[in-house]
Amino acid sequence: MASSLPSTSGARPVASTGHAPPAGHAPLADLVGAGTSVPCVDGTERPYRDLDSAASTPAMTSVAERVVEFLPMYSSVHRGAGFKSRAATAAYEDARRRILEFCGRGGGDDVAVICRNTTEALNHLAYRLDLSPGDVVVTTVVEHHANLLPWARFATRRYVECDGDGVFSVADVVAALDQGPTPKLLAVTGASNVTGWLPPIAELCDAAHERGIPVVCDAAQLAPHRPLPKGPDFLAFSGHKLYAPFGAGALVGPRAAFAEGEPFLAGGGAVDLVDLDEVIWTDPPEREEAGSPNVVGAVAFAAALDGLEQIGWEKVMDHEARLAARLVDGLGAIDGVRVLGPAGAGIRRGAGPGTADVGHRADVDRLAVATFDVEGVHHALVAARLSAEWGIGVRHGCFCAHPYLLRLLGLGPSDVAEARRQVMAGDRRRIPGAVRASCGLGSTTDDVDALLDAVAVLASGETAPVPYVQDPTTGDFFPVTTAAGWSPADRAAGGGCARG
Ligand code: ALA
Repeated sequence: MASSLPSTSGARPVASTGHAPPAGHAPLADLVGAGTSVPCVDGTERPYRDLDSAASTPAMTSVAERVVEFLPMYSSVHRGAGFKSRAATAAYEDARRRILEFCGRGGGDDVAVICRNTTEALNHLAYRLDLSPGDVVVTTVVEHHANLLPWARFATRRYVECDGDGVFSVADVVAALDQGPTPKLLAVTGASNVTGWLPPIAELCDAAHERGIPVVCDAAQLAPHRPLPKGPDFLAFSGHKLYAPFGAGALVGPRAAFAEGEPFLAGGGAVDLVDLDEVIWTDPPEREEAGSPNVVGAVAFAAALDGLEQIGWEKVMDHEARLAARLVDGLGAIDGVRVLGPAGAGIRRGAGPGTADVGHRADVDRLAVATFDVEGVHHALVAARLSAEWGIGVRHGCFCAHPYLLRLLGLGPSDVAEARRQVMAGDRRRIPGAVRASCGLGSTTDDVDALLDAVAVLASGETAPVPYVQDPTTGDFFPVTTAAGWSPADRAAGGGCARG
């Protein structure tokens, strides 16, 4: 189809040998915006190196093309008899079918509720499970906030702790499941957004199901990187983390879970009949989708699932495994850098170039994500300098997973109390945190090497080319310069980089 989207071919040249480059050396998918240059404080532009896939991914070019192709048919969904409404409704319901297929649940008695993202999906489920304050939901300290906070609103949380490497065992989870009262749910992540660790979901589901306890898997980080597990009763995941940043996500689960009771949102589309003092809710999944649905997001979401499956999981995993090894081993070899979590276990801070003990836990499967700190350099300053001096995009702070990060950093109650006191006083300069680099289909070994070179400079203590100032209200650092993109007038756009 014709498209006016920027072409990405040739944006990141790879030497042509007549053979496909080895895994990791070339992007595995064409992404919109690949090769875009961004301004740096030395007044030059550099290609943007996006090492922040765990936060949000750019659109696959094929996804953007599908959106452009669909837009002329855009119209109301389930709310019109016009040809375009019928086409839009068909596209929306096709996307729903595609989501179920992607989860391995097509043709059964499951439904896919299309929502905004994983956070909304988990809030939706927490509301819908009809929990009472005395009911227990077992969850873990490894979760990001979306899989911690919603449960607190409706039930009592029982936590599975992690060890010093940031992992827990099946036995740890079983111990929590076996305490009384028997939990109503196990809510666990499929992959950590901080360390990239992949908990043993299949075994956890078996253990929970043997005890009659349903499982929800927060698959926000898992879905772009691995086939989704069959065991969980419920799955939640987001389009913006799998190359479809158009505002759609999904909650997948048994139809029966949504058949009775009040839906999460009340409004048009969720009903069969309404009188002034009565409502007859319709059947799921429409019962769960009050308001006009995001059909563009759903179409994009389905196109991204097609894109991932067309590439093939083996290629995705091979590409990311190579990047993961290069990233973690490379960071671990830099004097003064500490890699947090299981990937960093056994890597001594200060091992020095080439001498690091890279005996990290090889038994631990993980994504191409590394969270690290640089001795003596604030995490926000590391992230600011990577961006302003090298054009490298990473995330810093606590990654919306405060309890986990505090454990990984080894902070005690007095450190936490002091950070709390300062935040309550409006000063965010000393919020604990670290720096995260995360790879996706668009990342290459070149990107990882550029990061490693830059971090080595930062860790060496070399003086920055410009001074940096920290904003107490956000905790972020900014270069003091008039260079394009970095002047004081540009700061508002970059403010608040580390909201948890
Ligand atoms: N979106 C959050 C992240 O960056 C949770 O990991």
